[in-house]
Amino acid sequence: MDKYVIKGGSPLVGEVEIGGAKNAALAILTAALMTDEPVRVENIPDVSDINVLLEAIAVIGAQVDRIDRHAVVIDGKTIGSVSVDYEFIKKIRASYYLLGALLGKYKHAEVPLPGGCNIGSRPIDQHLKGFRALGATVNIRHGVIVASAENLHGAHIFLDMVSVGATINIMMAAALAHGNTIIENAAREPHVVDIANFLNSMGANIKGAGTDVIRIRGVEKLHKTTYAIVPDMIEAGTFMFAAAATCGDVLIKNVIPKHLEAMTAKLTEIGCEVQEFDDALRVIAKSRLGRTHVKTLPYPGFPTDMQPQISVALCLANGTSIVTESIFENRFKYCDELARMGALIKVEGNTAIIDGVDGFTGARVSAPDLRAGAALVIAGLAAEGITVVDDIIYILRGYEDFDQKLRGLGAEIERVEDERGIQKFRLRVG
Ligand code: UD1
Repeated sequence: MDKYVIKGGSPLVGEVEIGGAKNAALAILTAALMTDEPVRVENIPDVSDINVLLEAIAVIGAQVDRIDRHAVVIDGKTIGSVSVDYEFIKKIRASYYLLGALLGKYKHAEVPLPGGCNIGSRPIDQHLKGFRALGATVNIRHGVIVASAENLHGAHIFLDMVSVGATINIMMAAALAHGNTIIENAAREPHVVDIANFLNSMGANIKGAGTDVIRIRGVEKLHKTTYAIVPDMIEAGTFMFAAAATCGDVLIKNVIPKHLEAMTAKLTEIGCEVQEFDDALRVIAKSRLGRTHVKTLPYPGFPTDMQPQISVALCLANGTSIVTESIFENRFKYCDELARMGALIKVEGNTAIIDGVDGFTGARVSAPDLRAGAALVIAGLAAEGITVVDDIIYILRGYEDFDQKLRGLGAEIERVEDERGIQKFRLRVG
């Protein structure tokens, strides 16, 4: 299995370009199936989650033409099956968006129940509650969610908790229901807005995305469109904290600074300078970082997908910080790996108490999931000596050309296949 091998200890300096948002792309590519006309989607990231989803879409019969690395044309006219294979669901949980899209369009969908996940239990009861409110019968048979309806009708739905996935899934199905749907306590994440904008560009009538009340007036059918996905706020945030942890100076290009405000605020609090431009941010860390407390929350709060990355920075800060994870219960698994690099972290329930240390020393560590994997790479970049990050298959799910982009900032990092690759790297960097 591939690994990253890193020689750390130098600040990241330079410019980096951010790609399209993976989480928005997963939903938009699925929603593209909801018309029988060709839909062109641009600025998709070339990461494994997206490529697996495109495969799943092709397997149910849609035509998928990859125009180039970042653009695809999808034609849902030729879909021959509303039943999705477990192989795909196992690999990407977000293929549950196929439920909302296919139910909306064909009034019938069969999608295997996604299994557990390594950041915690991830129920989808709110998605199913929404479909039922729209008039669908939803049963689970032999591990497969079977949703069907004679007709979908609008409904007033109050989500029990703020869920990005449920908000998007219900929004998709309701776009083609009869009458008006109101989703209360909706998620406000930028990608919820992006999917609403995308559906509207196909002729849907969705208002209020970005607030906690979304109103959807169902339409008869959707039509073709061309759409470019928003920049990935989590990829951008990862580079922001990589700059901070390595005492670097990085210009992060192709971002929407407004989406990054929670991260900008924390970086400023711990002593970094953050300069905002129209579509770029520059993060400058001149001296040792300061401590702070942080709690993950739905947008516009601090994102759970940035929790491991800020924790790495706080491990190197002066003083004690407390990090509280309020979205997923099992998201501190990387802390044991960080401890091997010299971090002082104590995890109690959903809280990590971090005593800042002067520095990390390189070690062999293993990525437990996507974002924690990226955080371990940041730790390796800040550490003295060589770090090997195993199981980078998780990181490749969501970061395009991660090693290449870091090398562009002066990092000594390489993707290698085996122990020989590690030895060669060691010999080269001395
Ligand atoms: C999405 C993101 C993920 C991010 C998360 C929170 C995608 C593909 N993934 O995941 O990267 O970490 O938002 O920002 O966009 N919940 C329920 N019942 C439900 C749905 C959710 O109890 O039916 C709970 C979850 O267990 C979790 C919380 O609600 O505790 C938020 O989950 P949700 O926003 O739905 O996360 P995802 O959409 O799965």
